[in-house]
Amino acid sequence: MASVPSLASTVHQRLADALTAAVPDAGSADPLLRRSDRADFQANGILALAKKLKGNPRELAGKVTDSLGSPDPAGLLADVEVSGPGFLNITVTDRAITENLAARAADGERLGVPLAEHAGTTVIDYAQPNVAKEMHVGHLRNSVIGDAVVQILEFTGERIIRRHHIGDWGTQFGMLVQYLVEHPSELDHSGSADGETAMSSLNHVYKASKVLFDSDEEFKTRARRRVVDLQAGDPETLAIWQKFVDESKIYFYSVFDKLDVAIRDEDIVGESGYNDMLAETCRMLEESGVAVRSNGALCVFFDDVKGPDGQPSPLIVQKSDGGFGYAATDLSAIRDRVFNLKADTLLYVVDARQSLHFKMVFETARRAGWLTENVRAVQLGFGTVLGKDGKPFKTREGETVRLIDLLDEAIERASTIVREKAQDLSEEEIAERGAQVGIGAVKYADLSTSATRDYKFDLDQMVSLNGDTSVYLQYAYARIQSILRKAGEVAPRAHTDMELTPAERALGLHLDGFGETVGEVAREYAPHKLAAYLYQLASLYTTFYDKCPVLKADTPAQVENRLFLCDLTARTLHQGMALLGIRTPERL
Ligand code: ARG
Repeated sequence: MASVPSLASTVHQRLADALTAAVPDAGSADPLLRRSDRADFQANGILALAKKLKGNPRELAGKVTDSLGSPDPAGLLADVEVSGPGFLNITVTDRAITENLAARAADGERLGVPLAEHAGTTVIDYAQPNVAKEMHVGHLRNSVIGDAVVQILEFTGERIIRRHHIGDWGTQFGMLVQYLVEHPSELDHSGSADGETAMSSLNHVYKASKVLFDSDEEFKTRARRRVVDLQAGDPETLAIWQKFVDESKIYFYSVFDKLDVAIRDEDIVGESGYNDMLAETCRMLEESGVAVRSNGALCVFFDDVKGPDGQPSPLIVQKSDGGFGYAATDLSAIRDRVFNLKADTLLYVVDARQSLHFKMVFETARRAGWLTENVRAVQLGFGTVLGKDGKPFKTREGETVRLIDLLDEAIERASTIVREKAQDLSEEEIAERGAQVGIGAVKYADLSTSATRDYKFDLDQMVSLNGDTSVYLQYAYARIQSILRKAGEVAPRAHTDMELTPAERALGLHLDGFGETVGEVAREYAPHKLAAYLYQLASLYTTFYDKCPVLKADTPAQVENRLFLCDLTARTLHQGMALLGIRTPERL
């Protein structure tokens, strides 16, 4: 494994050195390098430095150019030109580009991408549906974004502990368990249930028990007593509650499987997992004075959090009837994640509508000393999935959209496209590709907009072959694979003395930026920047492919070098898509 410094960083270093050589009192001035259309890179930092030194920027730029030497002794820079008020336009040599790409290509799946300098331990809370409830379109986002962030962070060397904080606790389980005690056969499939069956019987029990709960006072009383039994750990009650959890897991796994998100049983630690800590959490908060009793409830107050009436609106950790809520669980989970799991970052991929909850929970944990300055707590809060009308996505009947229906529809649409395009695929292959294309389309649409923003769920657009879609990227990948197959005996090979065309240079420089993009994406938890990178990669490849014949290039060496560019593009697309959780079929 050998990480490859990008050309941008190498050029940056050379410039910084030249600056210090030209102006000894430059300090650690930053040349401020960025990609540019005029040349390969442009340095803008000289202006600020000249201003600081009260000198002439163009003169200073000239000095820096001189101290770089021409021709560049290192063979990196082809041309350095002073432009405008004192910018430097920098062109690197073809050789430097090809050499860098060759080093990336020689680094297997890592493609020269460096590990993060300071890797730590992140506990990531994502893919957290609720027991006995249907997964809806909101659970798409916490699963898909969370899964991508996991892959990306792991790729940069971060130690990741996954936590699926499923909603498996609380008062409604008193009602459900009590119903099942009274109707014992209703969740029995002798263990052979599939996801759909499991969910429909859970739905049935949920509805039936709710009807009883709302209409029968005596049942209501029994259900309330059941909650107490549950929280106290009564074995019979727990055994029945476990049935709900098991049944729900059958269903969850069927959805996650369709969504192509791998979830492990040991990472599912739901709200119930913190039950034994809740009383202690409350006691600690009360004893330290972080929380106070107010009308019987245990509350934490914040100066800047007020209700619509202007009255303070506290975080309630324990209700006046003694019950513990969502906040007590999350605070206990923080203690577990910091002190037992030794996390230095807590990341929550949760709907932005829960931002106030997390703000208060994090602040409470800071006051209690559970979150110290060495531990970061971040909510990656995502926006709402909207329908075509721009309102939160609902069915025509106004109900929340079942995630599974949405996925099935995407797969169906994608299969139609695959079938139209495929000449030689078997039915089985069409089904497989249809799933990879359909699920990829849904994931990509979700990941390619900044997580915090809302987006419109538009299947027609998602499965389109043109534009910023995963289908476009998957086709680019498959097209390259087909070229590589056609090349037969001729293998991709870098020729470092090859002169490059503008399209080849543009593609090459973009390929060289993969590592930096991944680093930035990981630091900012911003998968949409990886999606944008990949889309641009596919676009640059398309231009290259239009302008530069590959198998019919002028010389055998050029054929090999262009195949090399094709191959590295494909591998970068494949790796980048994998980090987003999206498949790249070899043929489409
Ligand atoms: N189960 C919750 C929901 O469906 C999300 C849980 C988020 N995680 C947490 N630690 N509170 O909305």
